[in-house]
Amino acid sequence: MAARVSAPRGRGPRLRADPGAGLRERQAEPAFLAACRRQPVPHRPIWIMRQAGRYLPEYRALRAKVDFEALTRTPELAAEVTLQPLRRFPLDAAILFSDIMTPLQGMGVELAFEPGPVVREPIRTIAQIEALPELVPARDVPFVLESIRLVRAHAPRGVPLIGFAGAPFTLVCYLVCGRPSKEFAAARRFLYAEPAAAQSLLGRLADAMAEYLAAQAAAGAQALMLFESWAGLLAPREFQRFALRAVRRTMAGLRSTGVPLIYYVNQGSALMQSVADLDVDVIGVDWRSPLGAVRRVLGAGKAVQGNLDPAALFAPPEELRRQAALVLDEAGPTPGHVFNLGHGIWPETDPDAVARLVDYVHERTSLGSAGRGSGAAP
Ligand code: CP3
Repeated sequence: MAARVSAPRGRGPRLRADPGAGLRERQAEPAFLAACRRQPVPHRPIWIMRQAGRYLPEYRALRAKVDFEALTRTPELAAEVTLQPLRRFPLDAAILFSDIMTPLQGMGVELAFEPGPVVREPIRTIAQIEALPELVPARDVPFVLESIRLVRAHAPRGVPLIGFAGAPFTLVCYLVCGRPSKEFAAARRFLYAEPAAAQSLLGRLADAMAEYLAAQAAAGAQALMLFESWAGLLAPREFQRFALRAVRRTMAGLRSTGVPLIYYVNQGSALMQSVADLDVDVIGVDWRSPLGAVRRVLGAGKAVQGNLDPAALFAPPEELRRQAALVLDEAGPTPGHVFNLGHGIWPETDPDAVARLVDYVHERTSLGSAGRGSGAAP
């Protein structure tokens, strides 16, 4: 196989006598995991949603030779793509290269990536729902678990690995509509027209994703994230009744893994009150909700992840720094912030802008740095 899973050129520890050094040494836990648990950190951790993907020339080069599904199904290649962004940037977490639709393929759902997922036979009937089998990860998606083991064996600097799945309602959007859409009309119609069938499908998906994420943790994933990419389509009441109910069912079984649990709620400004009592460690938010207001609604029991507008990476360097500073200031000094974009990075993004963003967030928040502020307090 042409791909390599090799040790990246790591960044050595910064040798500086500064007040943060003691904390850095004592701190056995990586900054990302500590921030998820709302513990003080030596610098604000940052990773980027969709950090493994098309904005990286090295991903495009590999992708020119191998199709997307083959990349996700070949552990050496999936691990290679997972590690690509970590070789370029001193990111604080890796996310497994896979897709939210991958476990559904494992359950027998036929689909193609064009590049968004297109389901061959969208789910429209009770019979189709009842025919959906359980997911047995070791049998149905063994390559995902093997990819996780490989990443763990090769991850640089002890960078923690995030495992993930699609949240049940977001999966329903694709399964019922059959392809990406702005309104996902058929899926929303389904909730109102056939609520019992919708609950049955959501319940099956909730259980399958619980199995899937538990298996990822057992294989070595150090945090688990559920993507609710289409939460913003629902009014709070329907969000609670359908989407959140299913997420509670998934998450309930995952506490025993002991790893931090993250729920990403895209376009969720009207939904923060609804997720405040969900039993997860971190709520991921898009750029439309100022983090200060989000933290006030969520209260002291939750960390937040986000939320720079992906479009801000197209600003000139100085404006990008200003935008990143605004996010840091909104998040405030209380422990429990993981820096990220508010949604996935755009394929047209210049990787140099990502490098500048990661460096800026680290420099501005490093304990004892000449910068203003710290991971824990300004
Ligand atoms: O770097 C990472 O974040 C890890 C890999 C990852 C992919 N998809 C790879 C991918 C992750 C975490 C996802 C999650 C995902 N997939 C979500 C939730 C996050 C979000 O953006 O809201 C959703 C909704 C999907 C469904 C999906 N898969 C879409 C809409 C697309 C279209 C292309 C795109 O990038 O938006 C895909 C295909 C896909 N998944 C690609 C990649 C790198 C592009 C495939 C290609 O190379 O042609």
